Amino acid sequence: MKLSPRLRTVAALAGTGESVIDVGTDHGYLPVFFVRNGLFRRVAASDINRGPLESARASARRDGVEDRIGFFLSDGLTAVPEQFDTVVIAGMGGETMVDIITNCPWISSARLILQPQSKVPELEKCLDGLGFACGRAVLAEDAGKLYLAFEARAGEGGFDPARALLEGRDRLLKGCAERELARIRRALDGMEKGGADPEERERMRGRIQRLLEIIKEASTWQN
Ligand SMILES: C[S@@+](CC[C@H](N)C(=O)[O-])C[C@H]1O[C@@H](n2cnc3c(N)ncnc32)[C@H](O)[C@@H]1O
Repeated sequence: MKLSPRLRTVAALAGTGESVIDVGTDHGYLPVFFVRNGLFRRVAASDINRGPLESARASARRDGVEDRIGFFLSDGLTAVPEQFDTVVIAGMGGETMVDIITNCPWISSARLILQPQSKVPELEKCLDGLGFACGRAVLAEDAGKLYLAFEARAGEGGFDPARALLEGRDRLLKGCAERELARIRRALDGMEKGGADPEERERMRGRIQRLLEIIKEASTWQN
């Protein structure tokens, strides 16, 4: 089994540890990868839907590791009776991740590996409010699309994946920030014509300012 570039990035951030659960596992490729490579002593997979959980079980069976993975049918971590050091949540919207994180009483003691598909600012705000700090962050390119993945654990200093990407000198950051800048400028343009809420426009201007700073800093080490 070969992981896609997006899942490879998530797996690399997860690294190794004592125990891991892949929440919203679907195909189950990550837990199978963790077991096959001996990266965690205890490995589990969960999904809110029976079909995807069965598909994860089938992947594990094909690889001969079904009895080495715990399978849980659960909305987030609510019906998972064990705690894990590392919690992976990938390929879902940021708002679903916020629900999963805020409904888990032991989440602050875990290291989170997150790869949100949308609503990143909302997720960042939630993690910041819960006292998480951002560890490593990486951008992955997969089939012409860019994906952000990052590590979060309880800590000081606020939650700032852009700072982590800058510190890691991520080679995809500058291009990604330039595209996001063009997108937000177009959106702001449309808002100004449409007379949108002044607070929302101010928020967009703040994001433009931040993107310009990111591009400037990334330009010191990348053309
Ligand atoms: C697009 S798939 C992502 C699969 C895999 N994590 C990946 O990154 O390739 C999203 C999966 O999350 C599951 N899911 C959605 N909401 C969930 C929740 N609240 N708790 C657990 N699983 C959830 C869905 O059933 C689906 O299998």
